[in-house]
Amino acid sequence: MTSIPDITLNNGQTIPQFGFGVFQIEPKDTAAAVSTALEAGYRHIDTAEMYGNEAEVGEAIARSDLDRGEVFVTSKLDNDAHEPDDARHAFDATLKALGTDYVDLFLIHWPLPARYGGDFVQTWRALEEFYREGRARSIGVSNFQPHHLRRLHGETDIIPAVNQIEVHPYLTQDDVRAFCAGHQIAIEAWSPLGQGSVLDDPAVRSVAERAGKTPAQVVLRWHIQRGDIVFPKSVSPERVKSNFEIFDFSLDGDEMTAITGLDRGEAGRTGPNPDEFDYIPDK
Ligand SMILES: NC(=O)c1ccc[n+]([C@@H]2O[C@H](COP(=O)([O-])OP(=O)(O)OC[C@H]3O[C@@H](n4cnc5c(N)ncnc54)[C@H](OP(=O)(O)O)[C@@H]3O)[C@@H](O)[C@H]2O)c1
Repeated sequence: MTSIPDITLNNGQTIPQFGFGVFQIEPKDTAAAVSTALEAGYRHIDTAEMYGNEAEVGEAIARSDLDRGEVFVTSKLDNDAHEPDDARHAFDATLKALGTDYVDLFLIHWPLPARYGGDFVQTWRALEEFYREGRARSIGVSNFQPHHLRRLHGETDIIPAVNQIEVHPYLTQDDVRAFCAGHQIAIEAWSPLGQGSVLDDPAVRSVAERAGKTPAQVVLRWHIQRGDIVFPKSVSPERVKSNFEIFDFSLDGDEMTAITGLDRGEAGRTGPNPDEFDYIPDK
């Protein structure tokens, strides 16, 4: 079986560099999709309370032949639970839904600088509790800009292990990536395929044709060679399997540069700008 590289996080824990994302997979389809991924060799699943499918992720892991310790599981704190007491309840509910007594990684999903008086520091301190209790083996953030990270750095004890941000060929985020590299924060690239938008790009297609690979495979390979952690989503069993087949070839310097050159800066975002996003779910 293909061996997936591990990345060592700043606390010494390791994370498989490649995994499976379950955003926008309907709960009724999630257990089957995760089972397909586990059978194909994926050992890292990225979910969130916001996705509404933690229970089905847990169900697929429980149904597999794998021990809990063989699968790296990430979940995230929803936007309605940034007050520390709410965060504690939400984290308990996440563990219960997943059917486990720990997650490998727990993240603040969004910084929400326009909510909670801009105080994501109090939220981070709640995650520090979960880490000290051993119920979150690593803790990190998602959608944090360098100025948010600087604040955590100045006011709290634990440096986030990861920052999960939107990254793909149309939004290369090299400034945020460089900041994180300088502070020992690993980058997780969400929407690594730009939700499919980058796959018809002529430059991506041309690299794919030369490599004898699919556009998705060369884009995922580009992320791997940049050193980021990725977890593409698919509900198609064929795509789940083919997205995994990226460890038997490599892109040369010119091919890497051709893909990186597609960056469109802010215009390349498929998701919201983290400095502006203030959505709170109505539950
Ligand atoms: N932290 C955050 O705020 C945040 C935000 C967004 C996403 N994420 C995480 O990142 C993960 C991945 O991002 P994403 O789901 O937004 O987008 P993505 O993985 O970039 O793209 C998924 C889309 O691409 C299609 N696709 C997948 N493989 C393909 C292939 N080989 N050929 C053609 N099309 C393909 C999928 O369609 P089919 O399913 O029909 O194959 C789906 O429409 C999420 O699942 C989630 O875990 C995190």
